[in-house]
Amino acid sequence: MIPPRLHARLDAASALALLALPRALGWPGRLTRPLALAGLGVAAYSLATRYRPGQGGGIDLDQHRMLDAVQGAACLAAGLRESAPGPRAFLTGYGAFSLAAAVLTQPPGPPGVPLPPAAVTQDCGPDVARLRCGIVNVAFIGPAGAGARGWFLVDAGIAGFGPAIRAAARSRFGDARPAAILLTHGHFDHVGALADLARDWDAPILAHRAERGFLDGTRSYPPPAPEVGGGSMAELSPLFPRGPIDVSDRLSDLPGDGTIPGLDGWQWIHTPGHAPGHVSFWNAATGTLIAGDAISATRQESLCSAALQIPHLQGPPAYFTTDWDTAGQSLRRLAALRPDRMIPGHGPALAGPDFRAALDRLARDFAARGLPRRSRYARRDALADRS
Ligand SMILES: [Fe+2]
Repeated sequence: MIPPRLHARLDAASALALLALPRALGWPGRLTRPLALAGLGVAAYSLATRYRPGQGGGIDLDQHRMLDAVQGAACLAAGLRESAPGPRAFLTGYGAFSLAAAVLTQPPGPPGVPLPPAAVTQDCGPDVARLRCGIVNVAFIGPAGAGARGWFLVDAGIAGFGPAIRAAARSRFGDARPAAILLTHGHFDHVGALADLARDWDAPILAHRAERGFLDGTRSYPPPAPEVGGGSMAELSPLFPRGPIDVSDRLSDLPGDGTIPGLDGWQWIHTPGHAPGHVSFWNAATGTLIAGDAISATRQESLCSAALQIPHLQGPPAYFTTDWDTAGQSLRRLAALRPDRMIPGHGPALAGPDFRAALDRLARDFAARGLPRRSRYARRDALADRS
C-alpha cells in the first residue's frame, strides 16, 4: 500500500520526469510535446487533490487514482505501439508504474484492534467445529458423532465449497444429516453451497425474518461501498453477487423468542447493521459465540488478509455494511456477553483474555477503531467522531 503522502511525492517526480527527461534525451517533438502535456496534467491534478480529509482541493484521492489509471493505460498503449527502444521502455515502464500507483494507493480501512498470537485458537469448544471455506468460515454445532438430525450447520460458505463442507460433516458426524442449516445472514459468501446442501440433506433452513427477502428471490442487497478502503476486497466488492437467491421452499423464520428448535443451550441474537436480519449464535454455558459478520477476526477488506486469515479484530466487513450505527450497537451487545471464545465469519477462532481485552477495546472505541474513514452508509458526524 502506498500512503497518500508518498503518492503525492511520486506525482511530483513523475511530472518532472515527463517534462524534462524526453527533452534531455533529445527525443523528437512528437514525443516531447505530448509527454510534457501529460507532465503538466499530472502536476495540475496532483495540486488539485485532497490527499487528506479536510484538506482543500477540487478532487478526492479516488478521482485522482482514476486519472492515474487512465493516464497509465494510455502511456502503456502508446509504449506498445512505439518502435524506438528508449521511448518504448520509458512509456511502458511509466504506464505500468502509474497503473500500479493507482491500484496500490488505497484509503485505509477501519483501524480495528491488533491481536496478539495468544488470542488465536484452534479449540472451538466441546460442541463446535469451524471449517474454513477460502475467505469465510462455516461452523458445525453438535458433538462429534451426534446422530441423525442431531447437529446443525451454521452458514454455507462460498460457491464451490459444498463438497468440502459435506466431507467435514461426514468426518465429524458420519452419515448423519443435520437438523437444520442456520444462517447468520444471506450474503453470497455465506450461502454459496446452501441450496445444494439443503437439498442433499433434505434440511430446513432457518434465518431471521428480516433476511427473508434476500433468500426467497424477491430482494437484492444494497450496492457495496468500495470507498471504505482497506484493500482489494473492498475495491472488487462491486463485482460481488448481491443476490437474491431463492431457497424459499425450505426456509423458515427463526422463532421470535431467541430459541433454536432442537438446539438446547444455544440462542440466536439479532445483530443487525451488516445486514438487516443478521444474527449471531450464543451458548452462555460454554461462553461460545458464533459471531457471523458482526465481528471479524481479520481485515476482510484486504484480499491478502482475507485469503491468509491474518488475525486482526474488526467490526463487520466494511464494504458490505449498510448501517454503521446499528453495527456498532450490535458489536457492543456481543462484547457485553463477555464471550470466552468466538468463531467469526471471517478470520481465525479467538479465545482467552487477550481476545476479550481486544474485544472490549473495539467495543469501547468503536467510533475511532470500528468505522471506515468513509462510507456511503455512515453518517458524516459519526465518521468525524473517529478522528
Ligand atoms: Fe456478510
